[in-house]
Parts: sequence; structure tokens; C-alpha cells
Amino acid sequence: VFAHVVRAPEDPILGVTVAYNKDPSPNKLNLGVGAYRTEEGKPLVLNVVRQAEQQLVNDPSRVKEYLPIVGLAEFNKLSAKLILGSDNPAIQENRVTTVQGLSGTGSLRVGGEFLARHYHERTIYIPQPTWGNHPKVFTLSGLSVKTYRYYDPATRGLNFQGLLEDLGSAPSGAIVLLHACAHNPTGVDPTLEQWEHIRKLVRSKALLPFFDSAYQGFASGSLDADAQSVRIFAADGGECLVAQSYAKNMGLYGERVGALSIVCKTADVASRVESQLKLVIRPMYSNPPIHGASIVATILKDRNLYNEWTIELKAMADRIISMRQQLFDALKTRGTPGDWSHIIKQIGMFTFTGLNSDQVAFMTKEYHIYMTSDGRISMAGLSSRTVPHLADAIHAAVTR
Ligand code: LMR
Repeated sequence: VFAHVVRAPEDPILGVTVAYNKDPSPNKLNLGVGAYRTEEGKPLVLNVVRQAEQQLVNDPSRVKEYLPIVGLAEFNKLSAKLILGSDNPAIQENRVTTVQGLSGTGSLRVGGEFLARHYHERTIYIPQPTWGNHPKVFTLSGLSVKTYRYYDPATRGLNFQGLLEDLGSAPSGAIVLLHACAHNPTGVDPTLEQWEHIRKLVRSKALLPFFDSAYQGFASGSLDADAQSVRIFAADGGECLVAQSYAKNMGLYGERVGALSIVCKTADVASRVESQLKLVIRPMYSNPPIHGASIVATILKDRNLYNEWTIELKAMADRIISMRQQLFDALKTRGTPGDWSHIIKQIGMFTFTGLNSDQVAFMTKEYHIYMTSDGRISMAGLSSRTVPHLADAIHAAVTR
């Protein structure tokens, strides 16, 4: 009965790892998926995560019961404070409802399905380009996806004018997906001044902002600085949604831990919204897993662990920034044609190199370097040892 099933293509991002794993070359380099690696090229489990896990293991009162449908209450509260700021009026007025989600993706999906059921406007505007999973998540949530201009290939920076024009001509009430910081894949963010401009436009047109916050702390090394965009929206009295992921900033990729917060007008609305979120979640996966959320809560509520986390987070962010400088310098030394200053200007985990899919295919074939076909490289996957190999490959790709 399944003989007619055609083979689906691999995922454009996760499929890069599949191809990488099959390559027997000792020089192979995976710069596809956004996952942090140490200078030795190894995955990193943060010290604070190990400590939190130890505490959890040593606590005999810890059991493996089901969590409530909305997840771990303590985790939800702390997550909302982390992204919105504990002095945020929306939190103080109890107007925020937060549910635990299956990392960023699951949180976006629950938010998308809630909007498709209960919000009057079904169109969501997503930036062009955006994370490859966004259009699929929202389409399958039941929303209709449109794009707004975001990136300007000519300047390799923000197309601010295009963004304002497109959001300005979106129908009133439309949902707008905004990357809170460290835009994926471009590494290009609005300045704080531009964010304020966007906020005014969004509010004046009654658009509904939906933030994807997957890199808080990764862009600048500061958790507060990277939450500024969300906080200005959440402080102005209007509604917004925020999906948070702890995959990158706590290195909890496989634990699938995240949160969805919905900032509402009143506490009463927030509690009704939560009751409906439960109806979205229950038939999807019943309730979320306990381990990752317990790790996060343990870290966020303990001042010492929290401080240690910020130090480890900053070290990861700084290592990525130094990789940018090293790659830029290596291309300069080789005299690689073109302006590569965007490598040091862009922020977060990725550099949107400007290499085209032919050049990417060449680098994979000849240099065993794996990256997404849009020319995005994960800077977090680079090390001082591998920068020369990548620079050689880029040089060869653009001069061939
Ligand atoms: C990425 O863009 O590489 C990450 O967000 C991982 C993923 O799930 O795609």
C-alpha cells in the first residue's frame, strides 16, 4: 500500500549533516547546521548544565511524573522574565502566558496553530530570506505565508526601506515574524533605532509581532542586549508572541527545550489564551519533556549558576566573533577578490557569505566543506585550525 510513496528530499539544513556523515574524508568540515563547536571541533556541554544535571540527579524528590500540559511552571515564569525582563510591566501585570515548547520549532508551531484558530488575520509575513523551516511551520499551522523584504544582496545588509514599504502595505492585523536578534541566515539585524521605527509602524498598522528568539546572548554575548527588540514591543502595552529556544544559548540542542510567551492586554485574557493553548498542545504531544526544562530552571533560579552561565555564553559568543576576524584576515591575506567585510559586520552564529549554490557545491566536492546551498556558514563550527582550509576553499571558489 505504500509502494507509490516517493522519496522526499533531505531537509536543506539537517540534510547537510547527513551528507557530511557519509563523507569519509579526514578533512571534512560541517558548517551547515547551527551548532556550537569548541576550538577542537567538539560539541560542548556547558559546565553549568553539568552542574545543574548533577543537582537534579542527587535530588531524591525528583520524579519522572508527567508535567502539566503547559510544562514546568517555574521554567515558564523564568523564561518569560529572561526574554521580557523581570521589570517588564506585562510580567508585573500578569498579562503574559507562557507555555513550555519543544525548543524554538515546537514553540513557533504551537503559536502558529493558536493564531490560526483564534486570531482574525491568517496571513503571516516572514522576512526574505528566513530560516528554511519557518514557511513550513507556519503553513502547516494553518496560516498563509507571505514575505517582506529584509536583506539587500548588494550591500549584504538590511533593506530597511524595503522592509518598511512591505510591512507598510501589509493588511492591517497581519502577523509579522521578527527575528529577535542574530537573524538566521543573514546575520543582519536592525539597529535599536530601526527597531523603534519598526515598532511604531507595526503598532500604527495593528500588525501582530511574533518574535523568534533562538540566539539570546549569542549575538552580543549579553542576554539583555539581545532581548532589546522584544522588550520594546512588550513594554508598549500591545500584544506580541515570543518563541524562545535554549538550544544554542544553553547548548541544549537535543533536549528540545523552549517556550512560547503570549503578551496579552489583560491578565484575564492571558489566562483564557492559556486555556486554548492547552487544547492545541494536548492532541499534539500531550505535555512536554521534563529533563531539559528542569536544567534550565535550575540554572535560571540560582544566582551563581546564572552568573556562570553568562560567562560561558559570552565565551561562546566571543569565540564566534574571533572566528569572523580570523576568516576575514585569512581571505585578505590570500587577496581573495571581493569585499568580505560583511563577515565581521554580520552577527550571531552565521555568516551569509554571498557564495552561490554552484560555488557551495564546488567547495563541498573539492574541499569537503559542508554548508547550506544559500551560502550560509555556521561560524560556530569553525576553529583556528580549520579557518585556513575554509579560506582556501572560498578563494578557489571565487577565482575559478
Ligand atoms: C539552523 O538554522 O542551523 C538551526 O536553527 C538548526 C535547525 O534546526 O535548522
